[in-house]
Amino acid sequence: MHFDVFTLFPGIFEGPLQESILKRAQEMGRLSVAIHNIRDYATDKHHTTDDYPYGGGGGMVMKPDPIFAAVEDVLGMALTTTPVILTSPQGRLFNQAIAWEMAQQARLAIICGRYESVDERVRQFLVTDQVSIGDYVLTGGELPALVLIDAVTRLLPDVLGDAGATLDDSHTNSLLEYPHYTRPAEFRGHPVPDVLLSGHHAEIARWRRRQALQRTWERRPDLLDRAELSPQERQYLEELAGADEGNLPRD
Ligand code: ADE
Repeated sequence: MHFDVFTLFPGIFEGPLQESILKRAQEMGRLSVAIHNIRDYATDKHHTTDDYPYGGGGGMVMKPDPIFAAVEDVLGMALTTTPVILTSPQGRLFNQAIAWEMAQQARLAIICGRYESVDERVRQFLVTDQVSIGDYVLTGGELPALVLIDAVTRLLPDVLGDAGATLDDSHTNSLLEYPHYTRPAEFRGHPVPDVLLSGHHAEIARWRRRQALQRTWERRPDLLDRAELSPQERQYLEELAGADEGNLPRD
């Protein structure tokens, strides 16, 4: 999968793309990322990329011309087939389903917004999708772009060693993940739940599923509306709902 990222601050991408899984995915040839500096496409003497807003008001606005020039030059004929995403607090809220959707693409372009905003004609006539990573405002779209790249890359084939790992992820099946433990079996007096040491795979699977249900019910009940649950699991949730607060069933 190939990402073209358009930014005024290419340096922000240096560290994150050169560590851990993102680094390995590039070495494996599963991921490539080209960082393009929008400033290189500003044609005036000072390479201006922002200007005052028409109508007045505070803050600066990213000019449309260097952004159009950069994206058109880099994508060329591929412009008609490549999604062009603008990271923006006004976009649709990013989630795991959108990450899976993006992971099906061969190529994606991401424009990182900066300053107060981006000229509206970029949104109207260049961008095909706007994505927000949460209901808060950052100084720019570079960290959101990295969030998208990270979330999508770990879904690409072979990038995570264990092929099943992404299927158990929190959010993939609208449930939060069950608790995980590793050695030692007892740490500072806190033991690992017996069932995980039992070697009984069906019991372990049942315990994990119930833990996932309980956690989701406690922390993110909004997710349960979308989860695919068996009648027994619905029944279990009803038991949880009926239990006194602070006195929930343990498994
Ligand atoms: N740019 C600034 N804040 C943002 C956010 N929350 N999501 C995406 N892009 C942004």
